[in-house]
Amino acid sequence: MWNDNDWQALAQHAQRCGSRILLDIIDSEPGRAQDMSMKLGPLYFNYARQHYDAEAISDLLVRLENSGIQQQTRALFDGEKLNKSENRAVLHSALRSNLSDAPAAQEAHSHALEVLGRIEQVIERFRKAGVTDVISVGIGGSDLGPRLALNALADFSSDEFRVHFLSSADGFYLERYMAALDPSKTAVLLVSKSFNTQETLINGEALKAWLNDPSRVYAITANSAKAQAFDVLPDNVLSIWDWVGGRFSVWSAVALPTILGIGMANFREFLCGAADMDAHFLNTPVQDNIVAWQALTSIWNRNALGFANQAIIPYDERLEMLPDHLQQVLMESLGKSVRMDGSDCEHATSPVLMGASGNPSQHSFFQYLQQGIGIVPIDFIGVVKSSHCQAQNHHFILANLLAQAQSLANGQGSDDPQKRYPGNRPSTVILIDELTPYALGMLLAFYEHSVFVQSKIWGINAFDQWGVELGKQIATTLMPYVEKSRTDTESLDAVTQELLQRMLAG
Ligand code: F6P
Repeated sequence: MWNDNDWQALAQHAQRCGSRILLDIIDSEPGRAQDMSMKLGPLYFNYARQHYDAEAISDLLVRLENSGIQQQTRALFDGEKLNKSENRAVLHSALRSNLSDAPAAQEAHSHALEVLGRIEQVIERFRKAGVTDVISVGIGGSDLGPRLALNALADFSSDEFRVHFLSSADGFYLERYMAALDPSKTAVLLVSKSFNTQETLINGEALKAWLNDPSRVYAITANSAKAQAFDVLPDNVLSIWDWVGGRFSVWSAVALPTILGIGMANFREFLCGAADMDAHFLNTPVQDNIVAWQALTSIWNRNALGFANQAIIPYDERLEMLPDHLQQVLMESLGKSVRMDGSDCEHATSPVLMGASGNPSQHSFFQYLQQGIGIVPIDFIGVVKSSHCQAQNHHFILANLLAQAQSLANGQGSDDPQKRYPGNRPSTVILIDELTPYALGMLLAFYEHSVFVQSKIWGINAFDQWGVELGKQIATTLMPYVEKSRTDTESLDAVTQELLQRMLAG
């Protein structure tokens, strides 16, 4: 965790840099466009349009190193119980890389390999049973990562199985799937680490009855007993473990829907990309560590410049779901106001992460990004080589990415205040050579590790999520009122009583 000296230094750098226009800083540092960039495998990162000077970022990198981040990273990879409030190790890295000799990490890695083997058997069973469609039922981390990966890697999909995702407990998609699909050719995956998530269980109950064949109901869970109590056959349970957080589980059997689409060989490439980012993060000195740069840039924008929001804008429709996935990775991890030791955070933590695919967004919320009162730092993500043959379309997309990043930073004056572009708006550009499974794996692991580093700077636990529990509990107590099996509403608060009355009158 950073100490008072670190935070004071950050404030001093902020005072100096904040009093200067971003464009002036860039112009005064020749070579900055190259110096503040890094190429790592298929990924290229450019931080030159962040609103810090070289002195600030250099000092912050040293401070990060001195704060012991490398030892903390080692502890993460070794499987120390860093998730203190749940007394759990955090070993999603062991699902994709084998970079630690520690027994916990070794054991986790061998479990991961074993389950990959089992997944291949399950796919074979689907083939033999003539399965054409698979419904993956899960929510949060049991949905977003696999869904993102399948969308992003659609070009790698064999179309052998049609994969459908069911997340919300809203019955709309449930009913659509049941009407459109043939139960005799469909398999259902119940993806839930806890096997306690009501949305998944409600949808699961309905689909189990509709399918009427336990041989095609599968569970991917860390709670095998609960899955079996739900009538899932023991041989149809694929394990995940308590050391894999839901939002970090796309590297596990949770990604079975993705694997059904892209095949095991491509999934292994995805794991390899993440493994190489793991190795870079673990073994590279802080000054040259891309994860450290990313994390410090986020800290800078949040704590030095006070920006409350952050945007992820991919200029590629295949990455349309990236902001949704990263919203959970970032905000469920860093949306905390209490530190690991129970004391209150003294510095602002997670920004609100927003985002959507870039080109359509230009015609909706980019007005705000360009001229709104609040400044929103952006990660622009572009893919250099397109997967389609429409060269003009692709060139247009790339030109627009460049144009947005440039105009946000440089702005443009005008005699007419309405037509003035203030500029001074920071962004990072990440370019991907080509959107392959390997590159996607690297990119997702990069963001995951950046979240870890930020949490260490703030001294918070990135791996629990107690804030989601209260709403779930209250929903359980309110359910009987909505179902009208309970009518003693006097004990409810006045606003809930009124709203309930309105609902039940409808
Ligand atoms: O309610 C939040 C949460 O626990 C997330 O952290 C998790 O990804 C999601 O729900 C789904 O949980 P599970 O996989 O246990 O069903």
